[in-house]
Amino acid sequence: MFRAVIDKMAPYTPGEQPRPGQRVIKLNTNENPYPPSPRVRHAVIKAVAGDSLRLYPRPLADDFVAAAARYYRIPRHMILAGNGSDELLAMLFRAMLNPGDVVAYPSPTYTLYDTLAAVQEARIAPITYGRDFVLPFDELARSRAALTVVCNPNAPSGTMTPTRTLARLADALRPRLLVIDEAYVDFADHNALSLARLKDNVAVLRSFSKSFSLAGMRLGLCFAHPAIIQGLIKVKDSYNLSRIAQAAGVAALEDAAWAMRNVQRVRATRRATEAALRQIGFEVQPSSANFVLARLAGVDLSEMAAALRRRGILVRYFATPLLYDALRITIGKPAEMKALLKELKPMVAKLQARQGNGAQ
Ligand SMILES: Cc1ncc(COP(=O)(O)O)c(C=O)c1O
Repeated sequence: MFRAVIDKMAPYTPGEQPRPGQRVIKLNTNENPYPPSPRVRHAVIKAVAGDSLRLYPRPLADDFVAAAARYYRIPRHMILAGNGSDELLAMLFRAMLNPGDVVAYPSPTYTLYDTLAAVQEARIAPITYGRDFVLPFDELARSRAALTVVCNPNAPSGTMTPTRTLARLADALRPRLLVIDEAYVDFADHNALSLARLKDNVAVLRSFSKSFSLAGMRLGLCFAHPAIIQGLIKVKDSYNLSRIAQAAGVAALEDAAWAMRNVQRVRATRRATEAALRQIGFEVQPSSANFVLARLAGVDLSEMAAALRRRGILVRYFATPLLYDALRITIGKPAEMKALLKELKPMVAKLQARQGNGAQ
């Protein structure tokens, strides 16, 4: 019934979402532990008042895009709003890739790219990060892919590529498109938004699910040259953002200071968590995102993730050759991190004792 490729492919696996009412410490899908601005709630209530839901929303989310233009200081015709940045990624893959075309992104990274590539029957250039997660620049530049994606900060490593390196990569790839997925960039020290203005082959993506605490609302933005935005409009659903989401997006941007205060709290907790994880024996690279990748080199951590789950703490484990010895841990509230560390400490000590015995 389906195209052969759809029959064959595995679906994208989202992180576990607990049942309503289930009490867990949820550190597995990089949500923000703090609530969105109260202004978002007011805007949502206003958006459903009267009979407004009877009518379709504005196809191009004009007010939301105008608010984004003001906040990010980028012209409106260089901005497209999406139903989460996932939808913008799907539009980009759909618009740019024919069957057999090469798509390049260094792995391990956001696994949705694999799913989107499979749907397009694109060929994925086999490019991997080393353990240090430094961007494999030459391999990416050489692959001459129809579409190149760099997730920055990268998920699940939290590591960051400097903007000047991305600018050089865009020049090497030109006229082909470089997508910079900045879902987590508000937690970093710098970003590459300026490249969307400076380069006609760069698209920068932002998500409202992380820094703005709006994962449940589904809001994202794409910044790019007007010709790229026009192309994407052709492949988008006509009414991709509900009236509710558009109103929420405007309110979130008008009170961005609220979100940025939460970002600062998450960053402070991240710093403390990195230090505590190192102290109990994990290798942790400094993260620029709202999660950390904690590694015990060479030790399969699937059982540790399962044991945490039994104790009501969800973290993300990836059963792949490059990540089997790591846990990706979302930064939650300080008390949540404390609870996690309390469980992890004896688990690591036990593992180390077992290894010590094994070595004798
Ligand atoms: C790297 C990356 N890009 C994009 C997304 C999707 O974000 P959104 O919720 O805006 O669709 C995620 C979500 O986890 C992500 O990790």
